[in-house]
Amino acid sequence: MSTDPSSIVQRDPEGRLRHLITLEGMRHEELTALLDLAQFYVRAPGDLPARDQSLAGHTVANLFFEPSTRTRVSFELAAQRLGADVVNLDMQSSSRVKGETVLDTIYTLQAMHADILIMRDAEPGLPAYTAAFVAPHVCILNAGEAHLSHPTQGLLDALTIRQHKPDLSKVRVLIAGDIAHSRVARSAWHALAGLGIAELRIAAPDYLMPKANEFPGVTRYTDIDRAIEGVDVVMALRIQRERMSSAHIPDEASYHRAFGITAQRMRRAQPDAIVMHPGPMNRNVELASELADGAQSVIQQQVTNGVAVRMAVLATIARNVQARRQIR
Ligand code: CP
Repeated sequence: MSTDPSSIVQRDPEGRLRHLITLEGMRHEELTALLDLAQFYVRAPGDLPARDQSLAGHTVANLFFEPSTRTRVSFELAAQRLGADVVNLDMQSSSRVKGETVLDTIYTLQAMHADILIMRDAEPGLPAYTAAFVAPHVCILNAGEAHLSHPTQGLLDALTIRQHKPDLSKVRVLIAGDIAHSRVARSAWHALAGLGIAELRIAAPDYLMPKANEFPGVTRYTDIDRAIEGVDVVMALRIQRERMSSAHIPDEASYHRAFGITAQRMRRAQPDAIVMHPGPMNRNVELASELADGAQSVIQQQVTNGVAVRMAVLATIARNVQARRQIR
């Protein structure tokens, strides 16, 4: 199964987005159009959520073979608010645990007219692999692929940053924590690079730093106090123990002292810097609890934006499928 992004087919023959597998290589205009549509779907806290019928007649299936709270629920709400039928496959009770292949699961859902399949799995390359086998009207959306890619998270992170710092060409972003195992970091990098961010820094202890050939153009730090100096955005990441065969991680208190984002460290960033975390969060490990709940935190806004971004992606994909149907 190839994981080479250049081999991933996520466009139809006319070049429109059909599947969403990765943000890598996506053009500025295309990213901006998705963020603009997502912004259209954002509503203030307390207001009723946005709704339309962009997905009327479609059936969306959530296939989450790894745990999720935010991504699964927000895809479900997004699809419902766009008028789709939605089914959620419970990973514990699906026939995959009896040995059914993912392709057979997908063919089964396809036979029931599910036409937008949202997939999270620990296996690298699975979304692109399945995308190559589905029927021409069926779309695969990657909701988290191993350590490699989480495109809608990258989009919601970019949208959140843009809401606070509209001129991305002047914004310095730090992503700190377990970069080596983070699909969030990779998709944030793809989105922010495509949108022309001024500077992206990654900071991790040696044992959580990605390979030297990864993240070209990004500045690497192993000293968190130097990394955070003067940045406009600080994104903290959880240690992904589930992706480590042998962990060499110190205890949580030692990690927090050595590498956690604390209020004291945060004072080195710009005074109006924002604090982000994709969730789920381990309080007082990668991020001090007082910062997570503090005035600089935009963590709940990231969650709200997640629904809007997923509505934008679903509406865009459905529109592109419809356009393709009209050609044929
Ligand atoms: N950020 C994120 O992917 O969270 P979930 O695992 O809860 O979906």
